[in-house]
Amino acid sequence: MNIAEQNAEYETTVGKPLLNDPKMSMRGVDVFYGDKQAIFGVDLDIGRNQVIAMIGPSGCGKSTFLRCLNRMNDTIDICRVQGKLMLESQDIYDPSLDVVPLRARVGMVFQKPNPFPKSIYDNVAYGPKVHGLATRRTELDEIVETSLRKAGLWNEVKDRLHGPGTGLSGGQQQRLCIARTIAVSPEVILMDEPCSALDPIATAKVEELIAELSENFTIAIVTHSMQQAARVSHRTAYFHLGKLIEVNETEKVFTNPDHALTEAYITGRFG
Ligand SMILES: Nc1ncnc2c1ncn2[C@@H]1O[C@H](COP(=O)(O)OP(=O)(O)OP(=O)(O)O)[C@@H](O)[C@H]1O
Ligand SMILES: [Mg+2]
Repeated sequence: MNIAEQNAEYETTVGKPLLNDPKMSMRGVDVFYGDKQAIFGVDLDIGRNQVIAMIGPSGCGKSTFLRCLNRMNDTIDICRVQGKLMLESQDIYDPSLDVVPLRARVGMVFQKPNPFPKSIYDNVAYGPKVHGLATRRTELDEIVETSLRKAGLWNEVKDRLHGPGTGLSGGQQQRLCIARTIAVSPEVILMDEPCSALDPIATAKVEELIAELSENFTIAIVTHSMQQAARVSHRTAYFHLGKLIEVNETEKVFTNPDHALTEAYITGRFG
């Protein structure tokens, strides 16, 4: 069966959760916190150089699912992940896999900007140093500048690179965290409500940035803002009570969803 036929036969999730030649591929993902199951049998592919938005009511499992994608759930003792999760040909849950390089390949930006208590320069230089991406100071300088430029922050901070990262505004701190993430040249960037602590102007800047970054990176973003999902993403995945209900092209999800639950959510009947 080709992908179109597989998608057509799909029963649990409506729409098109599967893709040809995806960047990441998840099958039968279940997640438990102790005895309590939080994610139920999710099958989903994430396309290369695409933005996928994950939406749904609070507590439906968006953050839990996102954290599976770079094994951030490993840091939660009671959390258990089952199923097959692949980054291209790499089994993400292979017990022999070192998670440090995995998290360089699949970086993460959190809800609350969390710069290290270090200078702006050192925030960005930290990852490349740890991962041995630069041997000389000039190389490191170049990575720092390029990353800050890609994050749309260079002009605002170039004269204060050795000032503290925490001295920036919230929106600047979030772009600093994005610069820090892209400094190690990830392939995938996970973002969990990256704009929820930002004002509308800072949000617009980060959204613009996401659009630019998607030319070179694969991005999965969790958001409570349907306008944001509509503006930045190519595909949208709707979660409800731990199940993946629908995945479709973003425009379709917001104009003509296939599932009644998706429609109820996007028209504001719950959330
Ligand atoms: N560390 C944890 N320990 C126990 N249960 C958890 C933990 N984190 C999440 N859960 C539970 O898993 C379920 C999914 O939570 P999750 O945080 O993934 O939802 P979410 O969709 O991201 O919600 P929100 O939109 O509010 O951020 C919820 O029932 C939540 O209570
Ligand atoms: Mg969440």
